Amino acid sequence: MKLIIAFFFGFAYCFANAQDDIIKLPEPKLKGSVSVEETMLNRRSVRDFKSDALSLEQVSQILWAAYGVTKEMNSPSTVRGGLKTAPSAGARYPLEIYVVVGNVNGLGKGIYRFLPEGHFLMKTYDQDIRKELAEAALDQEFIEQAPISLFYSAVYSRTTSKYRQRGRDRYVCMDLGHSAENVCLQVVAMGLATCPVGAFEDRMVRNVIMIPDKEEPLYIMPIGYPVKGSLFKSK
Ligand SMILES: Cc1cc2nc3c(=O)[nH]c(=O)nc-3n(C[C@H](O)[C@H](O)[C@H](O)COP(=O)(O)O)c2cc1C
Repeated sequence: MKLIIAFFFGFAYCFANAQDDIIKLPEPKLKGSVSVEETMLNRRSVRDFKSDALSLEQVSQILWAAYGVTKEMNSPSTVRGGLKTAPSAGARYPLEIYVVVGNVNGLGKGIYRFLPEGHFLMKTYDQDIRKELAEAALDQEFIEQAPISLFYSAVYSRTTSKYRQRGRDRYVCMDLGHSAENVCLQVVAMGLATCPVGAFEDRMVRNVIMIPDKEEPLYIMPIGYPVKGSLFKSK
C-alpha cells in the first residue's frame, strides 16, 4: 500500500513540475510604431548593455520575430507547428532557439527552449549561466551584461535529409540569417539592441547550454537596452 501511495505522489509531483517548466508566452503584437525602413536605418551591433530587466512580453515578441508561427499547419509534421516568420529551405525549419535568461520580470534565471508550436517556453535549466556563456564565447563580456541572450542551434539532418550537401553548405545558415535578421530589426523597433555573435568555442558552448548531440551550436544574440545611441527609446 505504501508503495502505491509513494508512486502516486511521485507521479503527481513529476507532473506538477513538468507543468511548471512549460510557460505559455503572451501573444505578440502585430503592429508597431516604427517602420521597417527605420529599423534597418538604425540597426547597429551594440556591445554595451544596461542591466535593466526585460519583460516577458518583450521576450515573447522577440521569439515570435525569430521563429513564430504565422500559418498553422498540422501536417506535414516536419513544419513543427506551421510556416514561420522566417523563410526556411523546403520548410524544414532546422533551427532550435533557446533563451538564456539573466534578468526578465516574470521569468526565472536559466535556460529555456522556445517551442514555436503554441508559442511556449520550456525550462531546461534553472541557474544563471551568462558568465559561463561569455567565457565560452572568447570572453565577450557583453554576453554576461545583457539581460538575455538568444542561442541558436540547428539540427542539420532536417535539411540535409532532403537537400544533402547543399543543405549543409548553404541552406541551414541561410535559414539562420533570415531568423537572426528578424531579431535584429525587431529589437530595434522595441528600443533594444543586439550583437550577433558567431565567435565561440563550440564544445564549451555545447556544455554550457547542454544541447543534445544532434544539435550544432551556431549563434548567440545578447539582447538588452543599449547604454547609449538608441533612437527609439521605449522607456
Ligand atoms: C556571422 C557573424 C558573426 C559575428 N560575430 C561577432 C562576434 O563574435 N563578436 C562581435 O562582437 N561581433 C560579431 N559580429 C558582428 C559584426 O562585427 C558586425 O555586424 C560588423 O562589425 C558590422 O557592424 P554593424 O552590425 O553595426 O553594422 C558578427 C556578425 C556576423 C554577421
